[in-house]
Amino acid sequence: MSDRPRLLPLLNGTRHGTRDAMTCLYRCGNACDHPVPNTSDNAYFGDVVNAEVSRRGVVRAGAVGALVLGFGGAAAGALAGAAPAMAAPTTPDVPENFGFGRPSTGAGNGALTFKPIPPNKLDTLVVPNGYDHAVVIKWGDPVLPGAPEFDLHHQTAAAQSRQFGYNNDFVGVLPLDKQGRRALLVVNHEYTNEDLMFPGFPGLDGLSVEQLRTAMAAHGMSVVELERVAGTGQWKPVGKGPRPYNRRVTALSTKFDLTGPAAGSAWLKTAADPRGRTVVGTLNNCAGGVTPWGTVLSGEENFNQYFVGADAVAAELKPKLDRYGISTAARYPSGSRKWERADERFDLAKHPNEAHRFGWVVEIDPFDPESRPRKHTAMGRFKHEGANVIVAKDGHVVAYMGDDERFDYLYKFVSDKKFMKGNSWAARKHNLTLLESGTLYVAKLDQTSAAEIDGSGKLPADGAFNGRGRWIRLVSGNRSFVDGMTAADVLTFTRLAGDKVGATKMDRPEDVEPSLLTGKVYVALTNNTNRGVGSNPKADEANPRNANKHGQILELVEDRNDNTSETFAWSLPIVCGDPTDPSTFFAGYDKTKVSPISCPDNVAFDASGNLWISTDGNALGSNDGLFATAVEGPERGHLKQFLTVPLGAETCGPFITGDNRSVFVAVQHPGEITGASVENPASNWPDGDYAKPGVVVTWRLDGGPVGS
Ligand code: FEO
Ligand code: CA
Ligand code: CA
Repeated sequence: MSDRPRLLPLLNGTRHGTRDAMTCLYRCGNACDHPVPNTSDNAYFGDVVNAEVSRRGVVRAGAVGALVLGFGGAAAGALAGAAPAMAAPTTPDVPENFGFGRPSTGAGNGALTFKPIPPNKLDTLVVPNGYDHAVVIKWGDPVLPGAPEFDLHHQTAAAQSRQFGYNNDFVGVLPLDKQGRRALLVVNHEYTNEDLMFPGFPGLDGLSVEQLRTAMAAHGMSVVELERVAGTGQWKPVGKGPRPYNRRVTALSTKFDLTGPAAGSAWLKTAADPRGRTVVGTLNNCAGGVTPWGTVLSGEENFNQYFVGADAVAAELKPKLDRYGISTAARYPSGSRKWERADERFDLAKHPNEAHRFGWVVEIDPFDPESRPRKHTAMGRFKHEGANVIVAKDGHVVAYMGDDERFDYLYKFVSDKKFMKGNSWAARKHNLTLLESGTLYVAKLDQTSAAEIDGSGKLPADGAFNGRGRWIRLVSGNRSFVDGMTAADVLTFTRLAGDKVGATKMDRPEDVEPSLLTGKVYVALTNNTNRGVGSNPKADEANPRNANKHGQILELVEDRNDNTSETFAWSLPIVCGDPTDPSTFFAGYDKTKVSPISCPDNVAFDASGNLWISTDGNALGSNDGLFATAVEGPERGHLKQFLTVPLGAETCGPFITGDNRSVFVAVQHPGEITGASVENPASNWPDGDYAKPGVVVTWRLDGGPVGS
């Protein structure tokens, strides 16, 4: 396979940006071929509030910073509680402020001085001058000690269950010591592409049951112990000796406990689990977040595509399945994975409740490899992109979440209990319960310039796409606030609850992440080519372009900078696209100096508070990439491209360590271009033969802080 194959043409590239038809099939079960699931007639912006709000809130320092600064920038307080004194096989000596021995520089001191890279179509990973990069781990590499070497031609479910899974997405890195020498890499494996995994791919119907089970084992998550390479910003897996934390979580065999008010409800009971409290497997884990108590959250996203047989369910259940994109019109909807051939629970004609057991936020404790991961029903059920937690001023923890579907909603969860500081066993045990009970809200956004929004993206006369908004209470503990729905109904069919209360229909909310330095929240709205098309809803101030190909970033500032507030102000700091396109906006920054960006997907922060944005489905013709911009001060909106990923790939992760010395990204689905195969790959990344997803680390050659 050493001869570089002919690169295949890009085909069918108009549905999700330039996303290839093959990605549409495997990633989201051809979601764009199906009707928009949100057919509710709830109005947008029913109340137009004329109050103009500041586009810049007061920077909140102090209280939040004290809790969360450090390792993981984005990861926030990850380390504060990361040491399970009793549960783990060894007790990691993690830093109290998890900064790898170096305190955060704080907002405003981390000017982004790197020279941006140009857009390109190269089949390699490109980083700025003065930087290097390396693959940390890739599909098939051993994870569990004793895992067999990867054997392309003899893949088995047993082997894959011990090896790094396919299509890495979320990346979290949690320190294991105070010296910054060891860390845990936690990764989601969102989905598989059997065309690119199995030589001689015979079509999904031709795969053996063992191959289908192998694909199930390639889904899920991995936990991998890393060590720093010789004092640099590079990291590699620990290759020998005990690696007690290394773990695989799969769709095939890992058991999850359901927690919260919907656990044990009638909706979640099946023949295999008559108590409705234990689920086998997790599906389509997309983005996620590191919590302030050192666990990882992971969003179950496009779970619908794994189920067939919805044509045969009871008539009253059909609207509830349709609203989640599970077609009830045919036994095999377009994009079906055919997993029911290996496990009949994926046939809803036989097990109609099984689908309700996916679409949750999952919490895994990487420091306790024996612990059973949990699915938290209190956080609602939808196509969860991810969840990111901040500790509010009063100690309650707040999780921000997006439902990634055209015209779906933005959510937040506020815990009943308060965060307990410290690494004690008691604190850790307490904090592990924080996401099991609380209040779930959905967002309704009002606008200031409604009359001027014509779908072109023209900036209103007041100089901002902006407005105020409200968090509408859906459920609190066991109490529902939605007419005609119990708490279990609201949590299991959260989309329907959002419809009833008139939530605002957004352009595919992907990552939603609070800045731990300011408390402000950033939302990647990736695109929505159906906006204003046909009978679909038209542009509004928060989603200001019809046929929106390039997406936008929304900034949300909670009133009083209190993350538990039920009211907020919002604005769009960035409306994406080619900066020469008049419909783009970069916070008023000189557009001749910014990089073009399209289809923002995942967001992260470095320790200086800069916002990093990765893209999925660049509709401007370049490979996908990673970008960074300041969000405060005169450099706000000065967006620069930091890296690009190889052909056909999407940039996921990203994660900047709290010492600002390493940028991790997940290279997802390299070479995923229609017509590609193992034998005729569209990308040779990373080894020069067939394409393999993998996690990459980037660092500065002179050892300095990344971005600066
Ligand atoms: Fe898996 Fe919404 O991206
Ligand atoms: Ca306005
Ligand atoms: Ca994503």
